[in-house]
Amino acid sequence: MDNKTIHKILTVNDHRIPMVIYDVDVIKRQKTSLDNLFKNVVKKFTIAYSYKTNTALGQTMRDLDCSFQVTSINHLRQVKQLTNKKPFKIFFNSRNLTKKDLKEVIHGGVHLIINSRSQYDMVQELATKQRQKLQIGVRIDTKSLPKNTFFKTVNTGLGLDYQEFKGLPRKSKCLEIVGLHAHIASQNTDLLSIEKGIKVLSRIFEQNNFNFRYLNLGGGFPIQYKNSVPTIKSFAEKIIPAIRKIQKPNPSLEFIIEPGRYIVGPAGYLFARVNDIISNHGKIDVAVINCSVFSSVRDRILSGYVIELPCVVFKKQKIETKKYLIVGSSPSSCDTFGKYVLPKIRIGDILIFSHAGAYCLSNDDFTGVEKPQEFVWTGNHLLPI
Ligand SMILES: Cc1ncc(COP(=O)(O)O)c(C=O)c1O
Repeated sequence: MDNKTIHKILTVNDHRIPMVIYDVDVIKRQKTSLDNLFKNVVKKFTIAYSYKTNTALGQTMRDLDCSFQVTSINHLRQVKQLTNKKPFKIFFNSRNLTKKDLKEVIHGGVHLIINSRSQYDMVQELATKQRQKLQIGVRIDTKSLPKNTFFKTVNTGLGLDYQEFKGLPRKSKCLEIVGLHAHIASQNTDLLSIEKGIKVLSRIFEQNNFNFRYLNLGGGFPIQYKNSVPTIKSFAEKIIPAIRKIQKPNPSLEFIIEPGRYIVGPAGYLFARVNDIISNHGKIDVAVINCSVFSSVRDRILSGYVIELPCVVFKKQKIETKKYLIVGSSPSSCDTFGKYVLPKIRIGDILIFSHAGAYCLSNDDFTGVEKPQEFVWTGNHLLPI
């Protein structure tokens, strides 16, 4: 968003701060860059927006003709509401699949990607019982551990590894494996891990006579917060040769990606007001703003405080600068947005954090997972709160 637009918006919306604004032009630009890289490589290229990245942008992504990837039954229900007349695909992949959820997924015409051998067996049992032929995808754990993701925990038992996949029944009357799925990690800046992952998938394509219809490489394409990251073009350069090879014996192969962060991350702007400045706190001044990382930049916490959103001060140039620790409005010592060198700020100034579109504000119900209910026990009664 350019300065002129920000001025225009704030002239009439200043009283709404703290607020987050998503710039649809940025979303379009990011999506187009993916389309341009991949759509001429395969006959069919699908962007299945990773809904959990920012649920507030579901309708926007639908308006841009995206399909969806969802990871919980709650999010599936939300995505199903996003109807407009154009058809769209939904890919469902959850590590928490119950029999009840499974029925809802299958009967809703949603494409299921199984995550484990026991999920395969559960689907097989249901399909046999219902005498139904089901087409499913399989998530593969390619064991390609990325070196440079921003998150400490990756590869926590998602997908079947190569050997497990080989152990799946070749022919089943009621289940047909029509696609492979592999997502390595979010904000993955390790190009080598992509290359390694694709090699494992290529091997499965080459060595197995399943009738594969698609290859889904998940999401994880990085965006630049503080330090530079490999460009999307450099990812495409690793991916495209492998796709071409896989495609040769499978000319109608559909190539699917599930980006979240790359598309919506750069589109989000968080506007916050400085409500206090504490200058007697050691070497660095502390600026208190009127929102909190707990509600507005969840991703910073998930990344162990590695992710730091770029920040500028509204209407101020970087002439006389000072280093600040920016803290949120809660009393928690963990509520820190980061240390920034900024033009001298005063109480009342507006800070604009960019790249606040992914895993930030709308991430309070992370991935739509079921929340435990709360009760009080009175000694003989359990009372819901
Ligand atoms: C299976 C799957 N697909 C897609 C994504 C989207 O990732 P990102 O937002 O980094 O593109 C995720 C996020 O972790 C995921 O788990």
